[in-house]
Amino acid sequence: MIIFKQRRDLKKYLQGKAVSESSIGFVPTMGALHAGHLSLLKKCNEICEISVCSIFVNPTQFNNSDDYIHYPKTLEKDILLLEENNCDVLFLPGEKEIYPDEASKEKFFDLGYLETILEGKFRPGHFQGVCLVVEKLLNIVNPDVLFLGQKDFQQCMIIKRLIELMQKRIRLIICPILREESGLAMSSRNLRLNPQERKTAAELYRTLISIKDHLDGNNFSTLKDKAIQNLENRGFKVEYLELAKTNNLELVSGAKNEQELILLVAAFLNDVRLIDNLIINP
Ligand code: PAJ
Repeated sequence: MIIFKQRRDLKKYLQGKAVSESSIGFVPTMGALHAGHLSLLKKCNEICEISVCSIFVNPTQFNNSDDYIHYPKTLEKDILLLEENNCDVLFLPGEKEIYPDEASKEKFFDLGYLETILEGKFRPGHFQGVCLVVEKLLNIVNPDVLFLGQKDFQQCMIIKRLIELMQKRIRLIICPILREESGLAMSSRNLRLNPQERKTAAELYRTLISIKDHLDGNNFSTLKDKAIQNLENRGFKVEYLELAKTNNLELVSGAKNEQELILLVAAFLNDVRLIDNLIINP
C-alpha cells in the first residue's frame, strides 16, 4: 500500500491510470476502521483495478464540537487493517492539505429538500460539510466508482446529488450495513460505548425489525409512538424515527403502495449518537 499525504502527489500517481470505467475505486472514511468500512474496500477490490481509501476526520461536518473532539482515532491499527485487506492507496491528508485557508471552507451546495429532514434537520450544516470535503476528495482522486455504506443512507443520497451538481461520471455503489452479532450496526462511534451501553444499543435494530414486522397501511404513527416510548424507557433519547420512500426520502405515514420504503432512526445513548436504518421491500 502506498500512502500519500499530499494531494499533488496522489493526483500525479493516479494520472493516466483511469483506463476503463472501473479502474479507480474510492472508499472515503474518517478512520477508526471496522468491518463495515472493510466490506466497502472488499467490494472495491472486487470491482476495480486500483483501490483508494482516504482517512480524514473532516472538521466541517461536525456540528457538535464535542463529537469532533471525541471522534475515535486508531490510525496505526487502521493502516494495518488496510494493508491486510489489500488497499492499494491510502490518502491521509492533514487538515491544511484539505482546507489551506478559510476561503476553502466557503461554498454552498444546493441540496434542497434532502438537507431539511432527518440528519439534515438535527445536524444543521452537517451535509454542507460532507459535500465540502467529498467534492475536494472526488476532484483529487477522480474515481470511476465510489463506494458508500447504506448505514448513512441520507449521506448516499446527498452525495448522489453532489455528483450530479459536479457533473462527474462516477458510478455509485451502496454497500449493505454490516452488523454485530447483536444486530447493532457497526460504527466508529460504538468504540465510545461501554459494554452495558453496547448491549442496550442493539435495541435500536430490534425496534426497526419490530416496526417492519407490524407495519400495515397507516399504523406507522402508533408503532412509532410505542417504539419511542420503549427506547426512551431503556435510556435512549430519540431524535427521529421516520418512515420514508427510498427513492427521494419523502416521509410517509404507512406502507400503502407498491413502493420501497426505509425506516430511519437517530438516538443518543448517553452522549453517543447512533443512527440506523432498515429497507422495507414492498
Ligand atoms: P465514516 O463514518 O468513516 O464512513 C465511511 C463509509 O463507511 C461511509 O460510506 C459509511 O456509510 C460506511 N459505513 C459505516 N458504517 C458501516 C457499516 N456498519 N456497514 C457498511 N458500511 C458502513 O461517512 C463518513 O465517514 C464521512 O461522512 C465521509 C463520507 C468520509 C466524508 O467525510
